[in-house]
Amino acid sequence: MIIAIDGPAASGKGTIARRLATHYGLPHLDTGLLYRAVGAAALERGVDFADEAALAGIAASLDVAALDAEALKSGAVGEAASRVAALPAVRAALLRLQQDFARQPGGAVLDGRDIGTVIAPEAPVKLFVTATPEARAVRRHRELAARGEAVGFEEVLADIRRRDERDSGRASAPLVQAADAQVLDNTTLGVEESWQAALALAERARAGR
Ligand code: DC
Repeated sequence: MIIAIDGPAASGKGTIARRLATHYGLPHLDTGLLYRAVGAAALERGVDFADEAALAGIAASLDVAALDAEALKSGAVGEAASRVAALPAVRAALLRLQQDFARQPGGAVLDGRDIGTVIAPEAPVKLFVTATPEARAVRRHRELAARGEAVGFEEVLADIRRRDERDSGRASAPLVQAADAQVLDNTTLGVEESWQAALALAERARAGR
């Protein structure tokens, strides 16, 4: 059983994906980490963000087992990830890896932007997790503060809006809701309520209802 979770930055899709994976005993891949790793390597090595071939080369040689999720969570890396993710050659270099993960025999949970539309359109369970930009900025602001990154709220909100625009506006596999995805808008929900709603939707989809 493939569970595809898509949605914009800071929508809470990662938490939901992790919990669904634990709940159903499935492996989980946070696909944003792949783009973040490419973005981080580009920043580190001073690669030009217009150099699509060099960035695709980095993507093709990623060591997925060695990804350090914590080190990749900064705002700067998120911004770099969103930029490299707009490049078709980078997406192409990461496609097979994600498809293979999705299609392993026992099933899998993947979260990202294009899981239900491009990576695993056949997934029987598809959630599109979203919330208003303001609600997501509040969460991201809190997260960054907890990491010791002192950024003003307005800056975080502007960053979220810029990322939404880039992720949704790009030509290559943009962030869009799959026609058969179930939408979970958790703007007014707490973490626990959001999880309960996601589980109910997943159960319904699993039962074919
Ligand atoms: O989910 P995240 O914030 O960790 O993702 C970082 C960036 O990676 C996001 O701005 C867009 C890109 N991304 C993507 O284009 N496709 C995916 N499946 C996952 C992430």
